[in-house]
Amino acid sequence: MRILITAGPTREYVDDVRFLSNASSGRMGYSIAEAAIAAGHEVILVTGPVDLPVPAGVRVTQIETTDELRSSCLELFPACDGVIATAAVCDYQPRERVDGKITKTGSPIVLELVETSDVLAELGGQKEHRWVVGFALESQDPRTNAMRKLRMKHCDCIVLNDTAAISSLENHVEILSPEATTLAGFHGLKTSIAQQLIQFIEQKIVARH
Ligand code: CTP
Repeated sequence: MRILITAGPTREYVDDVRFLSNASSGRMGYSIAEAAIAAGHEVILVTGPVDLPVPAGVRVTQIETTDELRSSCLELFPACDGVIATAAVCDYQPRERVDGKITKTGSPIVLELVETSDVLAELGGQKEHRWVVGFALESQDPRTNAMRKLRMKHCDCIVLNDTAAISSLENHVEILSPEATTLAGFHGLKTSIAQQLIQFIEQKIVARH
């Protein structure tokens, strides 16, 4: 299969030198990319800035902003069999990016933020025969929120994890189906979860297609 994987954080610039972002390490997405290559798949990785080597054999597109993530994914997805979206996408961006560098005035300033595009929802909306695996990072009411995202983004399943996953070598995930049942649960090193997730997708998600 040819698999599109999104990974790492996005950045939203306030001016030319400052941005909003998050602490995503990219480790889950990179581990999945590595596991997919090892299982004989072709991988296209669209990644925000992270401090990890790109696994050998992976075709990579580096992005910074959510708009860049969106345009790369919309271009690449049609030629793929499915997508695994691990990217920690900024939900908001400054309404305007200021040219140059904002100078201090001695008074408080207010940043007006607007929502970014939901990349996975857009891919899900045009998936046709392709499969879509989302991730849901939840800190409260995890199952309800993950199921809302699964439906809104047209996912074939969603990998639920919590905020302890950010920047950690380990993770604890539960995979939910569109019928809200638990299909699998994995915990341990992200490298090991990645291998189990690729096997799960091959056996349970692709088989359904
Ligand atoms: N995602 C995306 N584009 C966005 C936001 C999220 O593609 N603008 C993807 C993520 O890569 C992940 C899934 O959607 O696969 C859910 O991301 P998550 O951050 O858990 O949820 P959000 O949809 O951003 O909702 P909220 O932050 O309100 O929980």
